[in-house]
Amino acid sequence: MNVLMVSPGFPAEMPRFTRGLAQVGANVVGLSDQPAEALPELARTHLADHIHVPSLWDERAVVEIVEQHARRRPLDRVECLWEPGLVLAARLREALGLPGMSVEQTLPFRDKELMKQRLDAAGIRTPHHYRARTVEEVREGVERIGYPIIIKPIAGAGATDTYRIDRPQDLEQVLPRIRHVPEVSVEEFVEAEEFTYDTISINGAVLHFNVAWYRPRPLIDKLVEWVSPQTIALRDVAAEELQVGIEMGRKVLRALDFQTGYTHMEWYRRPDGSAVFGEIGARAPGARLVDIINFSCDIDTYVGWAEAVCHGRFSQRVERKYNAATVFKRAQGQGRIQRIEGLERLMAEFGEFICGVDLLPIGAPRRDWKQVIVSDGIIYVRHPDLQQLLHMADRIGTDLQLFAG
Ligand SMILES: Nc1ncnc2c1ncn2[C@@H]1O[C@H](COP(=O)(O)OP(=O)(O)OP(=O)(O)O)[C@@H](O)[C@H]1O
Ligand SMILES: [Mg+2]
Repeated sequence: MNVLMVSPGFPAEMPRFTRGLAQVGANVVGLSDQPAEALPELARTHLADHIHVPSLWDERAVVEIVEQHARRRPLDRVECLWEPGLVLAARLREALGLPGMSVEQTLPFRDKELMKQRLDAAGIRTPHHYRARTVEEVREGVERIGYPIIIKPIAGAGATDTYRIDRPQDLEQVLPRIRHVPEVSVEEFVEAEEFTYDTISINGAVLHFNVAWYRPRPLIDKLVEWVSPQTIALRDVAAEELQVGIEMGRKVLRALDFQTGYTHMEWYRRPDGSAVFGEIGARAPGARLVDIINFSCDIDTYVGWAEAVCHGRFSQRVERKYNAATVFKRAQGQGRIQRIEGLERLMAEFGEFICGVDLLPIGAPRRDWKQVIVSDGIIYVRHPDLQQLLHMADRIGTDLQLFAG
């Protein structure tokens, strides 16, 4: 089976999915806007072939180049797990007459307003929302919805240009800052805890799913530098309070006619226990959530996804053994990492539960925590008991410190 993998080298998870495809027996053809030599080694070593295009965003040119290539070496599937490339992948499938999501099926996953319209029509509770292209339209939306509201880009990612607005003065401050965003969604602010619902599906049937909990809410992560954001893949997915979200997730997949691949949905659970839809991507989650999905069950969903899309099955046995978390660290100070404090002590105490340490090394320049969710490094930790896990994750938050200067 010949599988075209769009962007096999970026973002960080893609080389592992590329490896997954190769491991289930696919000949993987990479498609990217960099030469094969520039790809991360893990991606390069699992590619049978590579198509280098000048730009991935000139869709027509890319389709032509891939069609030429496919005449010599026919393709069986086109896969993409990188948000900006999803429509391109769908267009390639249509041009080559291959199975998988079409452009029409993909668009509601890319356009948050279209997404919500579809879901509203299916009776799924979304935040009250209003699409706005001009300052007047934003004001009109605010008027209709009432404070507090949230303003965010229609095609957003990583909570960039996302603002909570509590009163008219805040609105006046935010309006000039979002002038560069062509189209925004003005939404009711939902006071809630935030969770995910992540699936691997085949022909509309969910074969594997995961529920993760964000601590604190991602918007807080974007506003407050000192927090160490946690994402926790939950062990007890049968817990009563999660069922509203899981049921909503299944309805969402049906309403959007999702067929085959990885999906990542975010949902809100309000203090009264009800669920409100957040957003969904027709792709795997980012920010290493796939790794904690794997750590929580000792499985490999990079391979599991590949097996599903190539062979229509998910054969790994899933036993939910752990709650598994990522804790993202942000250094104090600017410049380069100078020292790391507290790691030895934490390792001595919790070492058997820590399944990965991936911190920037001494001397490395700090990353921009507003742009990069993983910030200056990650600790992976897991435990069968949720309270124990939360305790360890919080201790990693407070006792592990990176200093830059
Ligand atoms: N209607 C809302 N009510 C409350 N909070 C919201 C709302 N919309 C967005 N947020 C906050 O902003 C964050 C980012 O919004 P959202 O997930 O919709 O966009 P995004 O930029 O695509 O996110 P990402 O790519 O980081 O998942 C949410 O996780 C949530 O904390
Ligand atoms: Mg989000």
